[in-house]
Amino acid sequence: MKRILLVVGAKGMLGRVLMGILHSSFSKDEIIGWDIEEMDIQKEDESVAKIEKLGPEIVIHIAAYTDVDGCELDKEKAFAVNAEGTKHVALAASKCRAKMVYLSTDYVFDGEKGEPYLESDSPHPLNVYGHSKLKGEQYVQEWVKDSLIIRTQWLYGPFGKNFVASILQQAREKSALSIVNDQIGSPTYSADLAKAISELIQFDARGIFHVTNSDLCTWYTFGKAILELSGVNRVRVLPISSKVLGRPAARPSYSVLNCQKLKKEIGLTMRPWSEALKDYLSTYRQPLS
Ligand SMILES: NC(=O)c1ccc[n+]([C@@H]2O[C@H](COP(=O)([O-])OP(=O)(O)OC[C@H]3O[C@@H](n4cnc5c(N)ncnc54)[C@H](OP(=O)(O)O)[C@@H]3O)[C@@H](O)[C@H]2O)c1
Repeated sequence: MKRILLVVGAKGMLGRVLMGILHSSFSKDEIIGWDIEEMDIQKEDESVAKIEKLGPEIVIHIAAYTDVDGCELDKEKAFAVNAEGTKHVALAASKCRAKMVYLSTDYVFDGEKGEPYLESDSPHPLNVYGHSKLKGEQYVQEWVKDSLIIRTQWLYGPFGKNFVASILQQAREKSALSIVNDQIGSPTYSADLAKAISELIQFDARGIFHVTNSDLCTWYTFGKAILELSGVNRVRVLPISSKVLGRPAARPSYSVLNCQKLKKEIGLTMRPWSEALKDYLSTYRQPLS
């Protein structure tokens, strides 16, 4: 019999890519994708009733309010979507006895550790987005028996607003770009993450897993690599500090995630971010000059 896999947040940056990967990896199953037009996860009764009626065996919850600075300015919305919204999806998953997969973030950590974070490290978010996503993790663990929490970071890909698209857009308009050089992480290609999510589900993995492309860099190094690989050499890139940029939400200075558990438990090694970026740019972007 066909199983139903439900993706909540199917029209976002990761969702669009994930839907394609799931369709090919789970071709014998039915893949349903919903976003805010189909179901607003802030509405408890409607969300629970709608998911219960569908009766999925697996619920992959990737819907979120992902504007990190927006969350800082609108704490109520951040918690309504990322925490309470996740609770509603978790409640529905538990009623259906479904497995629940939840996407979380490196921003649950404060960056003080100074070396890559393990799944077992204690979270301590610096910003509202991180707090609201952590609360979401806690609801999933509290309500769903069979859950998989995947923490990732610095996503980019062919859909939606992201750093790669923003750098390429700015390079068309400006002769110099200032990029922060005091935050360290691992840029992650949405297609690589989507494949890893699919493999983790096929493996029936449970608990928390960290999943990012490997190797690390700062946003400044990442920005320079984007321009170089796109053939842009007329734009100057200047390193600045987060303080100078002055964004509303604080970010951890070092939020690299240790992905060894992924390798140990399911034998999956993520490729370096520079390789993934090259692949992405050669597939989706025409060189700019
Ligand atoms: N992007 C990153 O760098 C990053 C890093 C770490 C973790 N993550 C996590 O990975 C997941 C996917 O991220 P993403 O970058 O693909 O996010 P995204 O592009 O912002 O997509 C999220 C989707 O959720 C939808 N949504 C927002 N509020 C909703 C609501 N109340 N009910 C139903 N749907 C709602 C959004 O619709 P609208 O666009 O109409 O609001 C959007 O289609 C998220 O859980 C995020 O927290 C992302």
